[in-house]
Amino acid sequence: MSFYTQILITLFIIFASEAKFLPKKCNSCKALLGDDLIKEIASYENVKNEIFKYVLEGDFKSKTYDELEKFVDKFGARPSGSQVLEDSIDYMIQLTREEEINDIVTEELEVPHWIRGTEKITMLEPRVKEIDLLGLGRSVTTPPEGITAEVVVVKNFEELSELSNKDVDGKIVLYDPIFTSYGETVVYRTQGAARAAEKGAVASLVRSIAPFSINSPHTGSQTYNENFEKIPAAAISLEDADLLRRIYNRGEKIVLNMTMSSTYESKTSRNTIIDLKGRDNPEKLVIVSGHIDSWDVGQGAMDDGGGLFVSWAAPVIMKRLNLRPKRTVRSIFWTAEELGLIGAYAYEEKHRNESHNINFIMESDEGTFTPLGLIVAGTQKARCIIAEILKLFKSINASTLVESDSPGSDISVIIRNGIPGASLHNANERYFWFHHTEGDTMNVESPEELDLCTAFWTAVTYIIADISVDIPR
Ligand SMILES: *[C@@H]1O[C@H](CO)[C@@H](O)[C@H](O)[C@H]1NC(C)=O
Ligand SMILES: *[C@@H]1O[C@H](CO)[C@@H](O)[C@H](O)[C@H]1NC(C)=O
Ligand SMILES: *[C@@H]1O[C@H](CO)[C@@H](O)[C@H](O)[C@H]1NC(C)=O
Ligand SMILES: [Zn+2]
Repeated sequence: MSFYTQILITLFIIFASEAKFLPKKCNSCKALLGDDLIKEIASYENVKNEIFKYVLEGDFKSKTYDELEKFVDKFGARPSGSQVLEDSIDYMIQLTREEEINDIVTEELEVPHWIRGTEKITMLEPRVKEIDLLGLGRSVTTPPEGITAEVVVVKNFEELSELSNKDVDGKIVLYDPIFTSYGETVVYRTQGAARAAEKGAVASLVRSIAPFSINSPHTGSQTYNENFEKIPAAAISLEDADLLRRIYNRGEKIVLNMTMSSTYESKTSRNTIIDLKGRDNPEKLVIVSGHIDSWDVGQGAMDDGGGLFVSWAAPVIMKRLNLRPKRTVRSIFWTAEELGLIGAYAYEEKHRNESHNINFIMESDEGTFTPLGLIVAGTQKARCIIAEILKLFKSINASTLVESDSPGSDISVIIRNGIPGASLHNANERYFWFHHTEGDTMNVESPEELDLCTAFWTAVTYIIADISVDIPR
């Protein structure tokens, strides 16, 4: 598969399948698991309590937040291909070594390095107004004098296809889909420019993929169609998109002058792999993960600093509490997620010959707000085992199992090969307010919520890595 086809498929996968709540299947689960396994899972109550006590009241209280804060304040944004991303990877390795965990390897891969330059849109007609924007990943530049063109506004691809090429030729297309779910709406960001170029547009704008805004554009990745011209692509705020839509609906002519510059090259980055070796079956892996890269705007505190640090904390806490599960707990810090799961693809390919050893794979990349449970892919028996484990987390209301065939972002690359896995289900209603904006800062994070996520993530990982049965495929 070509690089671009891969990315296109990837973008479909991310958040594409909406999760459904598991119907009550207690009786069939009971039969599938058997009394002994149910009893065995319940017996982890004490270990769970030990982990909870340590994280919520003991030495680890507030540690996840404090470490995340130091990290985010020191490095800020960590875009793919940047030196700051590499420095932040070195920092995480050092932080882990200080915990006397030394089974750490990094694996190099080639990643895209797209650097945003000048970005400016001025509405010239029907009145002069500056429009805030963020270019989308890999966007090409405009000529230095900018592109000055009329705007056509479309709600969706259907409306675009109803227009004749003559209506679109030489114009700027603005997509203004109203946010429903990320999975449903994000296609206008990821494919908008490619589709507009097919009809002869000179640039493509999208109403930011977000449910709420204080005039904040949201960036993100997008993919060109190699068979058509690559045109500049950017996101504008909900407020400005809605303004342009209102003017357009009144039949007034809108003219924008749009200037964008950027550079794009390849660099080397690294996936980071940290192992806490299992005591009985070190070859078998229970993976926890988050991505260490971020967009260039904001600080990547939420996306995915929180997920990175809860996944860092899991083996660290086990090590500190001298809890060594039967199977190896592997923590992976993916690189270059934001430009199309580049690190995850490289890992999947490199480790394909040992993928039978992945017992379960987890990722947190949709917020670390109050944990609610897990979003789980796997067979019914696999889900029954996880549902039984989640019963141990009723005291913090984190017992919900949501079914999805493609949970997570990076891990979807591995789960689609039939490997069971889960992503953190959390109270993330506000996630897309901040996602890919300047607003993704430490202010979004809470020490209490992060402690709950860390305690939950660590205990779930420990139990899955230690129970007598493998998670079946
Ligand atoms: C568009 O903006 C660019 C950059 O600000 C400027 O050089 C150019 O003159 C503008 N074009 C028009 C038609 O206003
Ligand atoms: C998988 O392949 C790598 C080399 O690419 C090798 O180092 C490793 O031992 C192999 N693992 C298994 C389980 O065959
Ligand atoms: C769990 O949810 C119940 C009902 O919504 C609530 O009363 C309780 O305070 C919650 N417990 C925790 C630890 O959040
Ligand atoms: Zn992310």
